[in-house]
Amino acid sequence: MFDIGMPELLVIVIVALLVFGPKRLPELAKAAGKGLAELKKSLHDVKRQVETEVKAIEGEEEGTVGKGLVDLKKSLEDVKRQVETGFREALDTSVAQKPVIGAYEEVEEEEEEVGEEEIEEEEEIDEENMESLHDLLNSHVMSRLIYAVAKTGIPDLMNDNQMDYKELAERANLHPHSLYRIMRTLSSVNVFSEIEKGVFRLGDIGQLLRTDIPESQHALAVLMWEPWWRQGWDELLYSLQTGKVAFDHIHGRGLFEYLKQNPEAAELFNKAMTSFTAQEINSILDAYDFSVVKKVVDIGGGQGKLLASILEKYPSMNGVLLDLPMTLDSAKKLIDQEDLSERCELVPGDFFTPFSLSGDVYILKSVIHNWSDEQAISILKNCQGSINKESRLLIIERIIPYGNEPSPAKIMDIVTLVNLGGQERTLSEYEELLKSSGFKLNRVINTNSAMSIIEGIPI
Ligand SMILES: C[S@@+](CC[C@H](N)C(=O)[O-])C[C@H]1O[C@@H](n2cnc3c(N)ncnc32)[C@H](O)[C@@H]1O
Repeated sequence: MFDIGMPELLVIVIVALLVFGPKRLPELAKAAGKGLAELKKSLHDVKRQVETEVKAIEGEEEGTVGKGLVDLKKSLEDVKRQVETGFREALDTSVAQKPVIGAYEEVEEEEEEVGEEEIEEEEEIDEENMESLHDLLNSHVMSRLIYAVAKTGIPDLMNDNQMDYKELAERANLHPHSLYRIMRTLSSVNVFSEIEKGVFRLGDIGQLLRTDIPESQHALAVLMWEPWWRQGWDELLYSLQTGKVAFDHIHGRGLFEYLKQNPEAAELFNKAMTSFTAQEINSILDAYDFSVVKKVVDIGGGQGKLLASILEKYPSMNGVLLDLPMTLDSAKKLIDQEDLSERCELVPGDFFTPFSLSGDVYILKSVIHNWSDEQAISILKNCQGSINKESRLLIIERIIPYGNEPSPAKIMDIVTLVNLGGQERTLSEYEELLKSSGFKLNRVINTNSAMSIIEGIPI
């Protein structure tokens, strides 16, 4: 703004300190904002005079030493006057129309007494808000660290044992000190626990990152930051600007098309979906009574985790799982493992083309939210065309609550915006979808997880 160098600045600061005293400088500086234009002009004068003085001292203009100093003092008095005027005006606006002239000192004292608490409180709130903002901005860090340890297999290496980070680094072929720093950070959120210097064991959250437990969340943790998934997030602004799907933009095709052509990615995605389901199954089974149901049809049932759990709970029930052929390959593994192949039929198919499957209950879990209204209605209409009039349709999704409360549905809504082109919906939006596809909303059953069961009856 001003072309003032260090020597000049030093002179100004020293003189200002002498003139005003250190305590009042911040408030005067604040008030100075008012008469900034005048102040700027005076500071230019100061600068010119300082330059004259410096030249004189260097002997370039003999005999002028001291002349500049006199002018400088005069200009600094101007600066002081302007700053004080600005300060008085600032007080004037904040202490409603108090007389200024002659009462300046009194007003200043009053302002200090009355205003101090408020200012402190405001500052505290500001600091809290700033801290919250910084936490939000940094919230990706933990997620990335969890990805890094999951991807490099640390939780499986640790299992139930305590281990020195150096040994872990050697076994996973990692840089020891970097691993230590990451584990130390994750120990603050119960992924690990540092039990003595450099020795860690898995915390309760870290246990979930093992691949050898039924409720493993390992695949989900890895999916989060795998480059092909993350690239959608890199294009968030594209979705924001166009309303279109960032994933499709970067990959040139939709997610499920991409997965068809990338079996490894498909395997990871399907496992990650099963990780989600594992967290939700008990709450769904507790909330919905399937005891009178003879046959359940799970449309887009993925690897079959939910269907398998229902069949296990109700041993006389049969099930049908419809999904894309590539997904059914891994569903078959799970169904065989659980010894359910006798009671569970796997049907390769496309829910966008009409199908005919008999069953008392149709389930669509985490399916409708992947699609636009138009596509969702097309899936629902195909269900309507196949379902018996006495049967029930269960849409199992996260319902967007009204208002500002935090909700996993709101987060997942953005995931679907960026990577799928779908959306999470409010209850009335689901009601609308049902109505548009030949169903009526019968009831909504909330579960202990983020999922709700929206029951539709064909009309
Ligand atoms: C988000 S996953 C949900 C899987 C499962 N219902 C669950 O909750 O874990 C969506 C499923 O829809 C399947 N899917 C996608 N497009 C499909 C289509 N055109 N026809 C049938 N299934 C499809 C995917 O293969 C995947 O299994």
